Amino acid sequence: MSEDTRILGIETSCDETAAAVVENGRNIVSSVVASQIPLHAPYGGVFPEVASRAHVESIHGVVDQALSEAHVGLGSIDAIAVTRGPGLAGSLVVGLNMAKGLALGSGLPLLGINHLEAHLYSIWLVEEEPEPEFPLLGLIVSGGHSELLLMTDHLSYKRLGGTLDDAAGEAFDKVARLLGLGYPGGPAIQETAEEGRADAHEFPRARLEGTWDFSFSGLKTAVLRKVRESQPDLKAGVEAPRPGLAIADLAASFQAAVVDVLVDKTLMAADEFEATEVLVSGGVSANRALREAFEERAKSPVRMPPLALCTDNAAMIASVGHWRYLGGQRDALDIDALPTWPISEQ
Ligand code: KG4
Ligand code: ZN
Repeated sequence: MSEDTRILGIETSCDETAAAVVENGRNIVSSVVASQIPLHAPYGGVFPEVASRAHVESIHGVVDQALSEAHVGLGSIDAIAVTRGPGLAGSLVVGLNMAKGLALGSGLPLLGINHLEAHLYSIWLVEEEPEPEFPLLGLIVSGGHSELLLMTDHLSYKRLGGTLDDAAGEAFDKVARLLGLGYPGGPAIQETAEEGRADAHEFPRARLEGTWDFSFSGLKTAVLRKVRESQPDLKAGVEAPRPGLAIADLAASFQAAVVDVLVDKTLMAADEFEATEVLVSGGVSANRALREAFEERAKSPVRMPPLALCTDNAAMIASVGHWRYLGGQRDALDIDALPTWPISEQ
């Protein structure tokens, strides 16, 4: 697999419209991300119709910008890689249609890419580092997923477990809403937690012994109970708590509980499956406390993407595109979006 490639990646699965040009799966030539966060913030979460309309408005400009910043035209691109799922159906379709149109017009191959698989490949985009060596233990923690995987080779996964209820990022977003901290919840909780004590509350850590699964809904309920104990008449999740509630302590104690479960379980799995290295990716991997805990507690190397590549971007889509292009994948121009596409089917 030594053939040189230059892949155009397109990503519209949730609330970022993104396009990128990546060489050889590792070298980011350009990466453009148009965030919709300000559009969704008033709703306290991603509003699907608003998301798809915003993708339609920005997709052409974002793709043009990625190509022009890379100083290339489609003539010097080898394939177009686009997120096919999982994600919001109405949003996925916008990126897919754009990619299909470009593929049809240029004759370039179209590659439908799994967004979760792409989060793992964000690690390969740190070009200065040597490539990780298999077998690898992968943790993907995003707004919609918490997945633990064993990666035995490129594009080859065994799913060990995942969340049974809320994803890690979803738990951050929901608890941020309970505490009146706004959207997206992860960064807001992280900032607030800096001012609080992580040992102020002993929140539950669902270990789910004997499985590699996670559960965060009990933790979310425990935070809700604390809010209600202090302000029983508050419409929690709708109204922000009034002064008097020690929000920073709640945020710090909640964050510590999420971090403990994610780090301990991932490192235990790495041990059990004798992984050479651990890869942590997805929006929640931007979390400072999580990154520090992995660095402190891990015995074998743990890699996490640089902050800009933790959250959604198209460079990671183009990176998977490289490996899949070399592996011979060529998709038909009528492929559908797959809003609930598990990574284990890769
Ligand atoms: O991977 P991502 O950008 O989108 C999905 O594929 O879902 O992840 C978004 C999620 C959101 O739930 C957001 O609150 C969370 O990642 N997130 C964080 C941080 N930055 C983003 N969670 C904790 N700490 C952060 N610093
Ligand atoms: Zn994502």
